[in-house]
Amino acid sequence: MRTLKDLDPRGKRVLVRVDYNVPIKEGVVQDDTRIQESLPTLRHLLEAGASLVLLSHLGRPKGVDPKYSLAPVAEALGRYLSGVRFVPHSPGSDQAHQAVEALAPGEVALLENVRFEPGEEKNDPDLAARYARLGEAFVLDAFGSAHRAHASVVGVARLLPSFAGFLMEKEVKALSRLLRDPEKPYAVVIGGAKVSDKIGVIENLLPRIDRLLIGGAMAFTFIKALGGEVGKSLVEEDRLDLAKDLLRRAESLGVRVHLPVDVVAAERIEAGVETRTFPADAIPVPYMGLDIGPKTQVAFAEALKGARTVFWNGPMGVFEVPPFDQGTLAVGRAVAALEGAFTVVGGGDSVAAVNRLGLKERFSHVSTGGGASLEYLEKGTLPGIEVLE
Ligand code: 3PG
Repeated sequence: MRTLKDLDPRGKRVLVRVDYNVPIKEGVVQDDTRIQESLPTLRHLLEAGASLVLLSHLGRPKGVDPKYSLAPVAEALGRYLSGVRFVPHSPGSDQAHQAVEALAPGEVALLENVRFEPGEEKNDPDLAARYARLGEAFVLDAFGSAHRAHASVVGVARLLPSFAGFLMEKEVKALSRLLRDPEKPYAVVIGGAKVSDKIGVIENLLPRIDRLLIGGAMAFTFIKALGGEVGKSLVEEDRLDLAKDLLRRAESLGVRVHLPVDVVAAERIEAGVETRTFPADAIPVPYMGLDIGPKTQVAFAEALKGARTVFWNGPMGVFEVPPFDQGTLAVGRAVAALEGAFTVVGGGDSVAAVNRLGLKERFSHVSTGGGASLEYLEKGTLPGIEVLE
C-alpha cells in the first residue's frame, strides 16, 4: 500500500476517510476508541501543515436522517484537536464544497454523514468525483470500512493521489501476521450468534491453526450436528451439514476443536432472569443456552495455554445482557493472561469485553474493525487495501 511516507502534505487540503461509526446515545459519543485511533494520522498531517476534510459514515440511515448526524462526533473530536468544525451538509453538496474552500492550514472540517448521499453505497462515479474535489490528496484511515467498496472508500481513492493512514497500516500489519507465518501453536476463539457469518473466516484459517474454540450461540449448531440436545437454543437448521463438514475438515487437518461442555441457560433473554447450568448437549426444553458455563470457562482457558498466536472474534454468550456476559469476560481474561503470545481481538462485543476488563494493553492488537477484520482474514485483502496498491 502507498502510505503516509509517500505523501508531502505541506500546504495541501487533504481528504481523510475515517471510520467514526461510533455508538451515540442522546447526542453523546459513548465509546470514542475509533476517534482516538484516528488521531496519529490526523496529527501527523496537521503538524506537517495540511488542512483536513474528514469523511465518515455513521450507522445505516436510509437517506438524510438527523438521528445519524455526525455533529456529536465533531464535538468528541474537538476534545482532542483544536480547530475542528462541523459542516452540516452532505459531502457531495455545493455548500460542503464552499465550506472547505475557506479552510486554513491546521484546520479540520468534519462533513456530514456520507450515507446521506444516495450514491455513496452504490459507489456512484459522479459522487466520487464530487468528493475528489474536496481535497488534493486522499488518505484512507477507515480500516473498519475498508471492506465496503463505497464512493468515499474506493471510488474517490481512484481519482486522487491516495495513501493509507497509520491506523490502516497498523491494522493490516497485525492482521496479516495471523495469515502469514503465524507462530505456533495457533488458537482461534470464535463466537457470536451464527455460524453462517463466520464460515469464510473459519475455512480460511483452518489450514493454518492448531486449536479452534467455538462459543456463542453458533456452538449449538455444531452440538446439534453431533447429535446433542440443545433445548430451545438458537440453531441454524440449514447449516447442520456444513457444521459437520467443518468438524470433519478440522479433524483431517489435525485441528483440535473445543466446543462448550456446559452452558448457562434460561427460559428468556432478560437481565437478572433465573438461570440453570446444563451439560451443553443435554439442555431441556424450554431452556436455551445463553452463555458458556463455568466448566467451559476453565476448559477454554486450559485450551489456550501455551498458544503463541491467538485470534479472538465474537462473544461467548449474550454479552449485552448480564449475567450472560461472564463467559466472554472469562475468555478475555484467559487470552490476556497469555505470556509472550501474539494476541489479536476484533468485533464489537469482544472488544467491549476487553475494554470493560481494562485489559486492552495486554493484547498485541485490538482491531477497530469487526466485519473488516473478518473479511480480511477470509480473503487476505479488502477493497480499501487493493485500491491503495
Ligand atoms: C463497522 O462498524 O463495522 C463499520 O463502521 C462498517 O459499518 P457497516 O457494516 O454499516 O458498513
